[in-house]
Amino acid sequence: MDGRVSEGVGYGKTILFGEHFVVYGKPAIASAIGSKTIAKVSDSDVFEFIDDRPETPGYKEKKSGEIQRQIEALLKHFKIDVEKRPLKIVLEGNLECNSGVGASAALAASISRALNQHLNLGMNDEGINEAAYIAEEAGSGTPSGIDNTCSVYGGFIVFQKNVSGGRNRIEKISVETPVEIVMAGSGITQETKKVVEDVRNMREREPELFERIFKDYDEIFSRAKKAVDVMDLKELGGLMNRNQTLLEEMTLSCPEIEEILEATREAGAYGAKLTGTGRGGSVIALTPGKGLQDRVSDAIEEIGYKTFKTSLGV
Ligand code: MEV
Repeated sequence: MDGRVSEGVGYGKTILFGEHFVVYGKPAIASAIGSKTIAKVSDSDVFEFIDDRPETPGYKEKKSGEIQRQIEALLKHFKIDVEKRPLKIVLEGNLECNSGVGASAALAASISRALNQHLNLGMNDEGINEAAYIAEEAGSGTPSGIDNTCSVYGGFIVFQKNVSGGRNRIEKISVETPVEIVMAGSGITQETKKVVEDVRNMREREPELFERIFKDYDEIFSRAKKAVDVMDLKELGGLMNRNQTLLEEMTLSCPEIEEILEATREAGAYGAKLTGTGRGGSVIALTPGKGLQDRVSDAIEEIGYKTFKTSLGV
């Protein structure tokens, strides 16, 4: 048994365009956020998993099965028999576990990095990302891979799942000046797997509706990509609002999200939408400049929701 403590980091994330669409091979735009999960791995006498991450009340309980499946998948992937090599895995960091911020991907990425270091495997980011994806798959069914990719690589990216099984598109977007955003938590934890399944069933029941929604999304994405390239933030905000309308049509919004969105828009955000799974979880508001970021964050907190201020591409 050696006395080393090996650390690994996994970033939180936010999706600006394309949650759910990305599952069907549509391109999406996402960014890491300035908070992260830190995993610490050391040798021990018995296997221990200690989850000290901050959370929205009830998150860890609701996700306990998912978390357990992720840990088991990681141990299997890294070929660790805890009977023979008991490990202590501790999760910490300032990423508050909440639907929509990529908490499960940050768990997977941080533990993969820490195990890679602890076992001296010399894996690169691609290998870490593969391990994190396997854990995400075990936890939540058929993820697109956007969350773990953001969590492993950080930064601001275009992500497109290769639905035929080849390499995914991962395109880094460079951000010269940080763009302030506000993230808000609805306080509702959702199960991504279930919501993704609901959307899939709805698409089967209403193919024409979804064909139109997907077509609208294609147009939104192509304009958003151009707006990102020239950092036309007004255009970007307007397109986020339009993306939100499509998510509403897909039954992914809820009264709490609507309430937060109304406050952000009244306070002058350039645009806002739910981010991630939906039906609860988190909201992202585009709020360039410290002053606007503070005003929007205050307006959301005044109506009783927690916020987190960060920037795109951190
Ligand atoms: C969850 O953060 C994003 C979803 O599109 C699911 C996925 O991409 O795996 C809802």
